[in-house]
Amino acid sequence: MAELTYATYLEIERLLDLQHPRSNPPEHDEMLFIVIHQTYELWFKELLHEIDKVNGDLSANDLYGAIHTFKRMRTIMKTLVGQLDVLETMTPLSFLAFRDRLETASGFQSVQFRELEFALGYKRPGVRRFLDPSWPGVDRVERRLGEPSVVDHLVDFLAARGAAIPDDVRRRDPTEPTRPHAAVQAAVLHLYRTAPDVAILFELMTDFDEGLQEWRYRHVKVVERTIGAKKGTGGSPGVAFLKKSLFQPVFPDLWAVRHEL
Ligand code: HEM
Repeated sequence: MAELTYATYLEIERLLDLQHPRSNPPEHDEMLFIVIHQTYELWFKELLHEIDKVNGDLSANDLYGAIHTFKRMRTIMKTLVGQLDVLETMTPLSFLAFRDRLETASGFQSVQFRELEFALGYKRPGVRRFLDPSWPGVDRVERRLGEPSVVDHLVDFLAARGAAIPDDVRRRDPTEPTRPHAAVQAAVLHLYRTAPDVAILFELMTDFDEGLQEWRYRHVKVVERTIGAKKGTGGSPGVAFLKKSLFQPVFPDLWAVRHEL
């Protein structure tokens, strides 16, 4: 049998055969556009993998496991924000040179991004209408919509740490978005004051949440400086649509208590 090598283990040749610019004659920046989106999708895959792990940690009351994983997740999120700097080296004119080749393709249709939003409890069922049920992976989005989110697993963790969590929070409909709740905030506040090790977890989760908000802000700015007020290729009003999700936390209870600390 052939010896395992760097290239065979990582399937490098297959990976390098996945970039197919559509411009003819070729537009130099289209390669960057493809590579950066593919890189994001790989990081989304890794984040979903970590979320599945941290959900188990939280429900099993494994604080150190959850701290370890959230540290990784927030570091990946910061990397995702930083990578937008590379994309911003593409000028509006060089993007326009191949934009038509994208037809109606758009990040709007990223199945893994919706999976991430749903897994984090940012459940906007309306966004499903932009996904064709026949596309690969849409079944995963549907599954994530019906599954408890990271916030639901955090609630399990708080209950295991002695918090009195009302039944309507513990048995809530998992397809609904996260709603801030006074009982969860009381539990968070209590643990911030009495359990410094748990406070580390809360801070890492806040870092992650802030990172996702930063990504949304930086992405809107990339869009604004590249296409201005034009409609998106995915058919949304573009910048105006994207601005609606700015400053929306995925862990609202962690933000709500801060003035009381
Ligand atoms: C020149 C660069 C980019 C432009 C002009 C752009 C443009 C847009 C626009 C206009 C939308 C709104 C939906 C639509 O009508 O198409 C959108 C959504 C989106 N884009 Fe981008 N984008 C760019 C780069 C990226 C990159 C690098 C990613 C990384 C994965 C990305 C991921 C997304 C996602 C996930 C959405 C959906 C956001 C939401 O629903 O809140 N975009 N983009």
